[in-house]
Amino acid sequence: MASVSSAINLISQRLQAQPARWLVTGCAGFIGSHLVETLLKLDQTVVGLDNFATGHHRNLDEVKALVSSGQWQKFRFMEADIRNPEACRQACKGVDFVLHQAALGSVPRSLADPLATNAANIDGFLNMLVAARDAKVRRFVYAASSSTYGDYPDLPKVEETIGRPLSPYAVTKLVNELYAEVFGRCYGFSSIGLRYFNVFGTRQDPEGAYAAVIPRWTRAMLLGEEVKINGDGDTSRDFCFVANAVQANLLAATTENPEAVNQVYNVALDDRTSLNRLFEMLRAVLAETRPELGELKPVYREFRPGDVRHSQADIAKARRLLGYAPTHRLDEGIRVAMPWYVSQFTESAYCGV
Ligand SMILES: NC(=O)c1ccc[n+]([C@@H]2O[C@H](COP(=O)([O-])OP(=O)(O)OC[C@H]3O[C@@H](n4cnc5c(N)ncnc54)[C@H](O)[C@@H]3O)[C@@H](O)[C@H]2O)c1
Repeated sequence: MASVSSAINLISQRLQAQPARWLVTGCAGFIGSHLVETLLKLDQTVVGLDNFATGHHRNLDEVKALVSSGQWQKFRFMEADIRNPEACRQACKGVDFVLHQAALGSVPRSLADPLATNAANIDGFLNMLVAARDAKVRRFVYAASSSTYGDYPDLPKVEETIGRPLSPYAVTKLVNELYAEVFGRCYGFSSIGLRYFNVFGTRQDPEGAYAAVIPRWTRAMLLGEEVKINGDGDTSRDFCFVANAVQANLLAATTENPEAVNQVYNVALDDRTSLNRLFEMLRAVLAETRPELGELKPVYREFRPGDVRHSQADIAKARRLLGYAPTHRLDEGIRVAMPWYVSQFTESAYCGV
């Protein structure tokens, strides 16, 4: 796979020559912390907002260790909640670009507590939109979701055709898109929504009931716990390494193509991997240094309510209008992320990948 996207190279050079001020909400989370890391490495000024609902101080500590002290000095952290409109207003002051990631993720979490998901993902989103509009930011890029495709069965998923939502979480992400579109229409507000498809990478939380599949299984394999597959394992996803999602955010924030603005885009690979195949891939990478894992078998259990059966993104629109060119396929991303997971769960150094 192409190791460098030419569009992103150009943008990186432009940003370094003319640094801007960014707000990353959800900065202590998985994707948010990667955005902060990349922006600081490009010598940008970054305000990060988070309430640690699901994010962690350790993610910001890790970013601090990965950037220079001069770059870290350009980061200001606000511990705040997007459900508070005044906090959103403060955070947006003087900001050029907003990358809005803060939300309560996870379909099962939203089934267990739809009110909490609604408050963060809809009330919080609207607070951020109003604050960003009033601060006259140049662009508002927000984390949308592949869950918006709901029960629409055809593959690959094309942005213009969606089905009915299958969970409260999916409703919130669809409402985000509707609000962003209406703000464009009513206030001339400039936004772009990125429909992420199963993003994975370092710092994605492996703990807790709502952990995503790659960190959850990797953790289980390393700790000798059962790997549980929901359903028959034929369920498939378009797994997207976090570097590809970061690239899409930078492209979306800085595009000057008027056709590209006030749109939503799929962010993934246009590829599909079954859970059974994913299990084999993770097991194979780990078995290179821990041969005893080579024979590991998963345990199958009931299908999970609210989950879509298959998912695959058509990424032609992002390629065409944003210049998006993913740099990492699933296997490449797994190899980059794996040493980090190993370091979280083992004391001995891991030097196999
Ligand atoms: N990871 C994925 O595969 C994926 C897929 C589709 C969409 N998304 C969306 O991408 C965004 C980032 O997801 P992630 O995987 O990094 O999740 P994450 O849980 O690691 O990050 C979300 C961050 O938002 C913060 N947050 C939550 N509620 C908040 C509030 N009320 N005020 C301030 N901060 C708050 C959390 O503390 C956390 O740090 C979310 O909007 C999520 O819905 C993620």
